[in-house]
Amino acid sequence: MFLNRKELNTMLSPSKIKNKLATRYIGQTICYFPQLSSTNNIAKQKAQKGKSRTPEGTLIIAEKQLGGKGRSGKVWLSPVGGIWLSIVLYPKTVSTHVPLITIMTAVAVARTLNKLFPIKVQIKWPNDILIEKRKVCGILTETGTEEKNLKWVIVGIGINADNNSTELPEEIRNRSISLKEITGQPIPRIKLIQYLCSEFEMFYDLWQKKAFSAIIEEWKLYSYTLGEKVRVDIGNRIISGEAIDITDRGALVLKRDDGQIEEIISGTVLK
Ligand code: BTN
Repeated sequence: MFLNRKELNTMLSPSKIKNKLATRYIGQTICYFPQLSSTNNIAKQKAQKGKSRTPEGTLIIAEKQLGGKGRSGKVWLSPVGGIWLSIVLYPKTVSTHVPLITIMTAVAVARTLNKLFPIKVQIKWPNDILIEKRKVCGILTETGTEEKNLKWVIVGIGINADNNSTELPEEIRNRSISLKEITGQPIPRIKLIQYLCSEFEMFYDLWQKKAFSAIIEEWKLYSYTLGEKVRVDIGNRIISGEAIDITDRGALVLKRDDGQIEEIISGTVLK
């Protein structure tokens, strides 16, 4: 047995998630695992089999990940009680618009949390969901191409929900928090997943229609970053300046300390 008795009692169940699920395709197929390495890895394997075997919107969900992946090759700790899921997509558009899928996912998560809990939710560019300045959710998007054509996109979402941040190692404990710790109550994970599927579908439909400015306007409502003095790690250097805008492609517009304007399409905001 992988999980203890208490954990078994509060497990997720595909049939309970699908019951009352108000979507057309997101979450209508669910592959559920008590534990696995990474939902993104399994989602990738399934996406490679194609749409006929793994329909668009398929969810891969696990109670626990043993090899959860974060951005920039980091480990993502995924104990029982969290929400660890990946969504399989086959977009018809070109890869340059993919960063916006991550942005729209952050908006879908923020709106879901806002609907369920009376708490202020913020998004740190591009896609960290913060509550009280601590990270409650991370998003990892991965893509597959064939002869330079975009074939599939996997959106991995990790939410610290009904787990405790005390289960996380010291170095991330101070920067992370779970929904249970914030609300002081058990988290209705099934309801949260159902709401998230609906919000995600609404925003993914907008993305497919290329309604990018509508997505960005909504993102701005939750922004933790805009108007702030920030330092952004873009891999080969760190840029300091004021975050003044976000473009329709999801790039952060920085007014650098030397007065120059720079657009950053990918990076990590250090502050
Ligand atoms: C980040 O570093 O902020 C991104 C974290 C993404 C974690 C989720 S959990 C579900 C999915 N499977 C993974 O291995 N990673 C993502």
